Amino acid sequence: MSYLGYSKILARDFLSLFDKPIILEIGLDRGQTALPLLYNMSLYCDEFKFIGVDIKLQSEFTEQITQLGDLKLPGDKERGKKEAEFYETSSMTWLSTKSLQEKYRGKIDLVMIDGDHNYHTVYNELKMLENFTHERTLYICDDYYGKHSQLDNFITETGAEFQRNNKHLGEPVRLEKKGVKNAIDDYLRESPWEWSVLTCDGTEPCLMWRKDHLNLKIVFNDDKRKFRNSKMVVKFNNNPISVSTLFGYCDTTIPVFNNKK
Ligand SMILES: C[S@@+](CC[C@H](N)C(=O)[O-])C[C@H]1O[C@@H](n2cnc3c(N)ncnc32)[C@H](O)[C@@H]1O
Repeated sequence: MSYLGYSKILARDFLSLFDKPIILEIGLDRGQTALPLLYNMSLYCDEFKFIGVDIKLQSEFTEQITQLGDLKLPGDKERGKKEAEFYETSSMTWLSTKSLQEKYRGKIDLVMIDGDHNYHTVYNELKMLENFTHERTLYICDDYYGKHSQLDNFITETGAEFQRNNKHLGEPVRLEKKGVKNAIDDYLRESPWEWSVLTCDGTEPCLMWRKDHLNLKIVFNDDKRKFRNSKMVVKFNNNPISVSTLFGYCDTTIPVFNNKK
């Protein structure tokens, strides 16, 4: 699946609140989410860094990426304020790489998880992500609902030819517990922190964040068109303030946010 409908509100209402947000997407496929998200971040964020990880970087995606005029890629001569980097490897390898842990420790503001849809992978991704995230990181995990919610899927068994033979993935790990939702629910239950989880009717992902530090709600103005006119309201530290007054409150206390209003 993909996070259809979320890219505009994530960029406009959440990422734009950070000085230079860092985003990690696990599982890019052909960029159904990455491309609109990069477009929206370009519109709403002055600076950002997007990191994408997939066991196979598909040419349909990488060719389109090179056509985004203001996006700087590794190897470009000029440095820019809007950057992206892509890794052809598995999430487990990327997340366990020491140099990346050091470089991005506590720095990722938004993480999107949509790689291999099984209990073992998702549970371990969440555990390993603790090295990279901070108390206001927003997680969006696809397939919380839907066909992989309670059942494991292994892309080496069900994917396209290039995914079945992929050298970055090992043998499937089958556990007694199965499915993406069970992995997420177990992770949340065992975590030392309290979490909030939000799901929107009719969509598969869940959004999750640490309860005492961030608070989100998605407001749909028109149910029939769902995300077309929706907005995400972001609060922090449980203060009942809306996004329009957020900057006034946070300019001295929360250094990660801009006070640019
Ligand atoms: C459902 S698609 C992702 C769709 C994408 N997130 C979107 O919104 O359009 C799953 C992708 O995850 C990749 N993948 C599967 N297992 C992975 C793993 N362990 N690490 C990184 N990528 C993985 C697959 O190659 C595939 O491209």
